[in-house]
Amino acid sequence: MTGHATMPEADIEGARYQADTPQAAPGFFLKGSHQLDWGMKNRLARTFNPQSGRTVMLAVDHGYFQGPTTGLERIDLAIVPLIPYCDALFCTRGILRSVIPAESQKPMVLRASGGPSILKELSDEQIAMDMEDAVRLNAAGVGIQVFVGGEFETRSIHNMTKLIDAGLRVGMPVMGVTAVGTNMVRDARYFRLACRMIAELGAQYVKTYFVDDGFETVTSSCPVPIVMAGGKKLPELDALTMAYNAVQQGAAGVDMGRNIFQSDAPSAMIQAVHAVVHKNMKPKDALDMFETLKHQR
Ligand code: R5P
Repeated sequence: MTGHATMPEADIEGARYQADTPQAAPGFFLKGSHQLDWGMKNRLARTFNPQSGRTVMLAVDHGYFQGPTTGLERIDLAIVPLIPYCDALFCTRGILRSVIPAESQKPMVLRASGGPSILKELSDEQIAMDMEDAVRLNAAGVGIQVFVGGEFETRSIHNMTKLIDAGLRVGMPVMGVTAVGTNMVRDARYFRLACRMIAELGAQYVKTYFVDDGFETVTSSCPVPIVMAGGKKLPELDALTMAYNAVQQGAAGVDMGRNIFQSDAPSAMIQAVHAVVHKNMKPKDALDMFETLKHQR
């Protein structure tokens, strides 16, 4: 048989090429991420919902410097049941390997800095895991503290840039976290500075705190997505209002911990936060949802 005899008829072959339909050249749904490589984008698209452009990350990494934090004493019992309701989990590699089921389909973002305990100067951090291990663990990203204005500011910046260089080699997004010293002013001016520095130095997204005045200037002056950290435990309505205001003012979601796992109904709370973030549910409606789900337990 000749090669010619196996070819399809010319008119049918032509139809298969659909030459009159140009290949689409789509952009990418996340701010500032459209020129990243495929692996990096794919990891971001697992962490952030491509439909809403937002994420509900559940932060449970607190033990890396403060041990068994209230609500995280038994991650197997308290946190594993919440995993279905988050878009991504932010945890340490120790908890991932020892407690989080490997069957989980959720993206895992890993805490990659550490060193000092709560008993010492917190800005005295180092990179605390190899990028090779993040790849081995099939992580969707890594997170690192940056202490702008802190005692070890320069080192924490260098930690981040080294991690970013390692991440770029393998397509691993780095989340830079604005860590604020206890005696520093938490205002929009400070967070504009810290978030912009983190983005300019190459982080693919930034985690920072909400401020009542001018948060929209923090998000608008940061060229990559911002996720809001929750901070200390608030009454549920206040936490839902903060999450609502953050996403309405340009945040690409939240990375909340204590306001979820220290709630007296964590499962109800994370579902209410999810509705606020992905469906723009108003805070009072989200509180109603929280109360309803809480009483269904
Ligand atoms: C902060 O150091 C921790 O790494 C947490 O990931 C972060 O603070 C978010 O958790 P929370 O909402 O409890 O502040």
